[in-house]
Amino acid sequence: MNTTIQTLLNHKTIRSYLNKPISNEIFEVLMEVANRTASSSGMQQASIIHVVDQSKKEIIAQVCKQDYVAQAPVLLIFVVDQHRNHHIAMEVSNQANQTNDVDRFFQGFTDAALMAQSVVTAAESLGLGTTYLGAIHNDDETVIKALNLPHLTYPVVGLLIGYTHIEPTLKPRLSTSLRVFKDEYVSYTEYMPQLKAMDEAMSNYVDTRNPSRTMAPFTQQVSERMNYANPLRLRMGQNILKQGFSFNLDE
Ligand SMILES: Cc1cc2nc3c(=O)[nH]c(=O)nc-3n(C[C@H](O)[C@H](O)[C@H](O)COP(=O)(O)O)c2cc1C
Repeated sequence: MNTTIQTLLNHKTIRSYLNKPISNEIFEVLMEVANRTASSSGMQQASIIHVVDQSKKEIIAQVCKQDYVAQAPVLLIFVVDQHRNHHIAMEVSNQANQTNDVDRFFQGFTDAALMAQSVVTAAESLGLGTTYLGAIHNDDETVIKALNLPHLTYPVVGLLIGYTHIEPTLKPRLSTSLRVFKDEYVSYTEYMPQLKAMDEAMSNYVDTRNPSRTMAPFTQQVSERMNYANPLRLRMGQNILKQGFSFNLDE
C-alpha cells in the first residue's frame, strides 16, 4: 500500500463543488500530467478543451442536464484529435491518407480517456473532487458546435474538477472474480446468484444526486439501462462520420 494506491482505492465521483478556484499552479500541473500520459504510438492523438467561457459552460450543463456543471471551477472536454496530425502530415509530405480510419479514431479515443484518468488521479491525490461527463454525448452536435471542434476531432468525455465539502461513501463494485479472468473469458450460466451481495450493497448506497433515497439494486439498474437508449445518443455514429472519420464497415 502506498499513497497512490490509497488515492485510487478511495475514488468517488463528486457532484457538488465549492465556489473556490483552482490555482493556476495546480491547473498547470494537472495539464502537464495529462500531457505526460502514454499515447498510442506516441502520436498524441487527443487534446483538451478547457472551457472557461460561462455561456459555453452553460451550454454543456444543459446538454448534460446537470446544473452544477456550469458552476464547477474547472470544466475540461477531452477530444479525439487527428486534426493536428493530419495537418502535420500534409505539411511534411503533402498527403495524409490514413488519418480518419476506425483504428485512428479509437487510438485517439483511448488516448483521450487515458489522459482524463491521469488528471482524475492527480486531482484526487491533491484532495480535489472530479466528475466525468459522458453526458456530453446527450447532444454531441451541440458540444462540437460550441467548442468549434474541427474536422477529425470528436469529444470523448468531459471532466469537472474542484474543491468539495461533501464526502460520499464508496460506491459498491462487482467482485473482481466477475471482472478479472485467467487466460480466457469466463461466462456464467447464471449471474444473479453471484450478485446478491452486490445488489444488497447497492440497495444501501446513497447517490449524492438523490440523497433522500438509496439506489435500486445493481441488477435492476443494469436491466433498466440495457433496455433504454437515448435517441440523441444513437446519433453518435453519424456525428463521428460527420467529423470526417470513416469506419469502412462494408466487407
Ligand atoms: C466515461 C464515464 C462517463 C461518466 N459520465 C457521467 C455523467 O455524465 N454524469 C455523472 O454524474 N457521472 C458520470 N460518470 C460517473 C459514474 O456515474 C461513476 O463513476 C459511477 O457511478 C461509479 O461511481 P464512483 O465514481 O463514485 O465510484 C461517468 C463515469 C465515466 C467513467
